[in-house]
Amino acid sequence: MARVIFMLVALVCMFQTLAAPLQSRAITSGECSQLNTRIIIGIGAAQGKLGSINTVNDVGNARNILEAQLSLLDANNGTTQIADALLTGAKPAPADANARIVSGLQASLASLNKISFIAQNSTKAAVAAANSSMTTALESAQQAVAANCQTTAN
Ligand SMILES: *[C@@H]1O[C@H](CO)[C@@H](O)[C@H](O)[C@H]1NC(C)=O
Ligand SMILES: *[C@@H]1O[C@H](CO)[C@@H](O)[C@H](O)[C@H]1NC(C)=O
Ligand SMILES: *[C@@H]1O[C@H](CO)[C@@H](O)[C@H](O)[C@H]1NC(C)=O
Repeated sequence: MARVIFMLVALVCMFQTLAAPLQSRAITSGECSQLNTRIIIGIGAAQGKLGSINTVNDVGNARNILEAQLSLLDANNGTTQIADALLTGAKPAPADANARIVSGLQASLASLNKISFIAQNSTKAAVAAANSSMTTALESAQQAVAANCQTTAN
């Protein structure tokens, strides 16, 4: 994971250099790469936060927490496909990879919002942090879809 993030950051820097003369265009491939990097970081952070919750101690919320994690895996499938396409260039990611990220994140956020808390405790704090990371990732993914970001390093 850390290596993928590092390589994507390196790619972003490379694209920014290449894209510099193209600033007047609506959105550059460098900006798309930046969106991707933000998505990957946001999903990774949310996975870490939700993974830190011990669902055995939280039976009432366990289903929603687990469903949120499964939807995050679906979203992460899209980011993995894009990262593979960018890093290995072996084959382009499916055209709907960014849309898959959006729907995975939306489903995950919907599950999180079904969780109810009475007490301010570490579970609530972890869910709130995951919520915030996912919301940021979702905004980036929606921008990538709106900008019709290519999922290849062309
Ligand atoms: C990602 O989704 C594709 C298409 O639905 C599927 O074929 C592939 O197995 C999935 N990969 C993972 C790691 O879940
Ligand atoms: C936090 O409070 C909720 C109830 O609001 C409870 O289900 C959960 O187990 C608590 N988490 C911890 C870590 O005590
Ligand atoms: C997630 O964030 C939104 C807005 O930022 C908020 O309305 C919602 O209650 C939050 N959900 C959880 C589970 O923290």
